[in-house]
Amino acid sequence: MLRSQMNEQKTQKMIKISIYIAVSVNGMISNRRNVPDWLSPEYGQGFMEICQKTKAVIMGRTTYDIIAPDYLPLQQEGTTVVLTTDERAKSGNPTVIFTKDKPAEIAEMLAKKGHTEAVIIGGTVTMSAFINGELVDDIYFIMEPVLFGSGLPLLKNVEFESKLSLLAVTKLNNNTVQLHYKIQKEV
Ligand SMILES: NC(=O)c1ccc[n+]([C@@H]2O[C@H](COP(=O)([O-])OP(=O)(O)OC[C@H]3O[C@@H](n4cnc5c(N)ncnc54)[C@H](OP(=O)(O)O)[C@@H]3O)[C@@H](O)[C@H]2O)c1
Repeated sequence: MLRSQMNEQKTQKMIKISIYIAVSVNGMISNRRNVPDWLSPEYGQGFMEICQKTKAVIMGRTTYDIIAPDYLPLQQEGTTVVLTTDERAKSGNPTVIFTKDKPAEIAEMLAKKGHTEAVIIGGTVTMSAFINGELVDDIYFIMEPVLFGSGLPLLKNVEFESKLSLLAVTKLNNNTVQLHYKIQKEV
């Protein structure tokens, strides 16, 4: 293995990357109408809390376009990474970095900036890219009490299977459960 590859692996291990995502009971992250009227206040609260705690948030451009500027979780401090191929993308928010870098390069960049943890908040394309890169350590599923006949699945174009270990189950309200799983790296 080349020294540069070894250094990259070492840097990647220095940052813990989580996913925080709301899902229907049948594993969809968005309904066909693409209207987020099924999300509980507890999801919103937990979303803000984990973003404030990690101070490094990763999302895809589609998700960014839905939540920016008013609902960006990091308004003044920390780092907000938005994946996009649009080199002209600009934001009025000082924490936002637009990038077309690969997930491993993003992990390395965040670690170099001093971040020890980061959270991916969606969507499917972005979560799939980081899962494919084997860069995700744990996932918070906020399971909302809905079934979608069609919509957007959690992952797309992920070929391998991952085993998970349950870390915690938290009842957030009468109908919503948070499942926290660790991804087993060695299967
Ligand atoms: N349930 C939840 O908790 C939750 C949370 C967030 C979002 N969502 C839902 O998820 C949906 C959006 O998900 P999505 O999968 O369509 O989109 P996404 O992952 O948010 O964004 C996809 C876009 O990000 C850019 N991108 C992604 N990977 C890239 C890479 N490796 N390199 C360069 N650019 C990359 C591309 O933007 P360009 O085209 O600009 O290049 C791509 O079109 C929405 O319906 C939203 O409501 C749900």
